[in-house]
Amino acid sequence: MTISPLQLARAGYKPKLPVTLTGNIVLREDGATQSIAHQKEINEMFPKTYGMPVLHIESGSEPMKSPAVNVGVILSGGQAPGGHNVIAGIFDGLKALNSNSKLYGFLGGPSGLVDGKYIELSDQLVNDYRNTGGFDIIGSGRTKLEAHSQFDKGLENCKKLGINALVIIGGDDSNTNACVLAEYYKSMNANVQVIGCPKTIDGDLKNEMVETSFGFDTACKVYSELIGNIERDALSAKKYWHFIKLMGRSASHIALECVLQTHPNYAIISEEVYEKKLTMDQIVEDIARVIKTRADNNENFGVCLVPEGLIEFVPEIKKLISEINDLLANKAAFFNALKTDDEKFQFVNSHISADSAKAFNSLPKEIQVQLLMDRDPHGNVQVSRIETEKLLIEMVEEKLIEWKAEGKYKGKFTALANFFGYEGRCAAPSNFDADYTYSLGYVSAVIIGSGRTGYMAMVRNLTEPAEQWIAGGVPITMMMNLERRHGIMKPVIQKALVKLDGKPFKEFTAHRGEWSIKTSYVFPGPIQYFGPSEVCDATTKTLQLEKG
Ligand code: FBP
Repeated sequence: MTISPLQLARAGYKPKLPVTLTGNIVLREDGATQSIAHQKEINEMFPKTYGMPVLHIESGSEPMKSPAVNVGVILSGGQAPGGHNVIAGIFDGLKALNSNSKLYGFLGGPSGLVDGKYIELSDQLVNDYRNTGGFDIIGSGRTKLEAHSQFDKGLENCKKLGINALVIIGGDDSNTNACVLAEYYKSMNANVQVIGCPKTIDGDLKNEMVETSFGFDTACKVYSELIGNIERDALSAKKYWHFIKLMGRSASHIALECVLQTHPNYAIISEEVYEKKLTMDQIVEDIARVIKTRADNNENFGVCLVPEGLIEFVPEIKKLISEINDLLANKAAFFNALKTDDEKFQFVNSHISADSAKAFNSLPKEIQVQLLMDRDPHGNVQVSRIETEKLLIEMVEEKLIEWKAEGKYKGKFTALANFFGYEGRCAAPSNFDADYTYSLGYVSAVIIGSGRTGYMAMVRNLTEPAEQWIAGGVPITMMMNLERRHGIMKPVIQKALVKLDGKPFKEFTAHRGEWSIKTSYVFPGPIQYFGPSEVCDATTKTLQLEKG
């Protein structure tokens, strides 16, 4: 593989670690913990791993020693910048505790553990991937680790390799499953520890103990660079409205962070749509109002950001999606046998409520087809594949034509659609993500060395310089509550949506009126890896505001 000059220079970057991880280490424990809700039920479901204390890694007087261990690592779900550095951190942490320890990588995500597909990660291989984006060192996948039969096969494969610990790098669902696996192995005295690491560009795995998931920082910086470039083009040409959909699943953290970095003219935050129960028509009317006001000022251009999960939060479409999800889950075989779109539409229309059928039939054909596409392994609609940005353009255009006919609008509306998602997921990690992920990996190795299981690696105090970060481990059960999934109450890590009373959202609402009318774009430019700290090391606005 040809290496780019930047990649070559970047290979020499030494990720910064919290100072407590650079010398002798001692582990301090806080008192017993509780889950965030449903304490009694979660305790009963996780008798072996419930209530464990939060761990703090502190400077000690003697070197921490660990017997040689074999560890397996798994990358789970969508790519996020920094995954390779988590692996490098685990590798270096294990070797620092005992040079005879070994690290294996299970290939293609959780299915690699079940199917026994793996490689041993050598010094050379790990070095080749330091500070690079992507998950390609071992690959990732979306197989869910849920069934005992999978756990048993995984255990057989661990035993063959003498593996004593697994690190699962994933989002809320993968870490929930890591905890179930930890409990299962502990209850049978299998002698295989399971540790989780908080990954996802979506930024929705965060709580009192986990300040942010890795990858969010880099992905938002990439999207903000692109949005800034588009804003400058809009400002130069003065003839287009750009509608930009941003990844993030249900949560609008990515959209909100990009808003704070680039000050576009309009942005939708799905959580606000849900709270105010806004219909599609109300959303469209509000966007059209901003377009009209700008046109009255002779500014027939602008930028509008759309979170990819929007469609799931608009009440009438939320209901429609939920009915279609149930229908597709219960009548999958029949539905899949239908050949044409018309047959599928007819089938759907005859099995959903009258309100949902009305909502379904109000949508353009392409969106109807997209709503019926395959579900993800969790049974959810794949929002990244629904072209909400195009739907909005179409609906706004119709509204403006109406207003023109009524003499209310005199402008010119030409719109372009964009979707930013995959562009940011495998970018070379920013300094923040390179340091954060390496630290998370190193912490995982220390937790393994201490013999614990059912913990997630935790690195906090992230708005301070990396040397002052605080490292430790949080029991995964502490982040859990019960939620209804496919009609059954299940223990899951609570997903963090945008808080409407949080500082990042309040910062947006304090300025959105001004940004919509008075062009106030900010052009963040590309991620800088070398240069002054204020340019290279600053983390997200979200984290700065939340911690400020
Ligand atoms: P994770 O939740 O696994 O971290 O994935 C995040 C994400 O990038 C979402 O933002 C997006 O909706 C989804 O993955 C796309 O999935 P896929 O990679 O399967 O197309």
